[in-house]
Amino acid sequence: MRRSPEWRVGKNWVEQATDALLERLSARPALRICLATGSTPLPVYQRLTASPAAFAAASVLLLDEFGGLPATEPERCDAVLRRELVDHVEPADHRTIDVDADDLDSECSAIDQWIDRGGLDLAILGLGVNGHLGMNEPGSDSDGRTASVELATSTIEGAQRYFAGRHRPTWGVTVGLRDLLRAGEVWVLAAGPTKAEIVARSLQGAAGADVPASLLQDHPDCTWWLDPPAATNLEM
Ligand code: PGA
Repeated sequence: MRRSPEWRVGKNWVEQATDALLERLSARPALRICLATGSTPLPVYQRLTASPAAFAAASVLLLDEFGGLPATEPERCDAVLRRELVDHVEPADHRTIDVDADDLDSECSAIDQWIDRGGLDLAILGLGVNGHLGMNEPGSDSDGRTASVELATSTIEGAQRYFAGRHRPTWGVTVGLRDLLRAGEVWVLAAGPTKAEIVARSLQGAAGADVPASLLQDHPDCTWWLDPPAATNLEM
């Protein structure tokens, strides 16, 4: 059995991750995928737009969404995922998160039901500098499901690179750790020197709820796709 988590480091991580996802879709066209936004996965999504037919039978679930933003805000996670990928590849099913729903608890339950219909075959995640997965911040319940959550200060500050002062969201709705940790396969994408410390902490530090990404150490099929700067603190 191969080691999990395994990490793959290379300047060409975008091409490799794209090819690996196309392979998964080819082997299982009705793949159920949970997709992050943020900035890291976007080059992968951009490459995927060249293969729209690959998604024809796939189901896509948005990982998380910021709360309290105008519907027209172009950096809402939903808007980003549509613009960068979904509008180009038109998956058979696309589930977003309605953070403006009158009854947010019902919306969260409906997302859990969407997940329960067939589970998640693959979760493609980014990594917060504090080790968050989606908006599951340090201390999140590893058994938690989709929920409205408060954002950590570093997440609020970090989100300014998307919103450039227009908005300062302090909460969001995220798919919970339970379902991310139970996905058939999990990928974490991390690039750049700002992620080096948390990558090493998540992969080689003690596993615990204080660093949600470290909980993936126990996942049977987890791959980290890293550029060389993000991998500099790893002991090889
Ligand atoms: P990034 O965000 O891909 O923009 O670095 C990742 C995250 O905070 O989860």
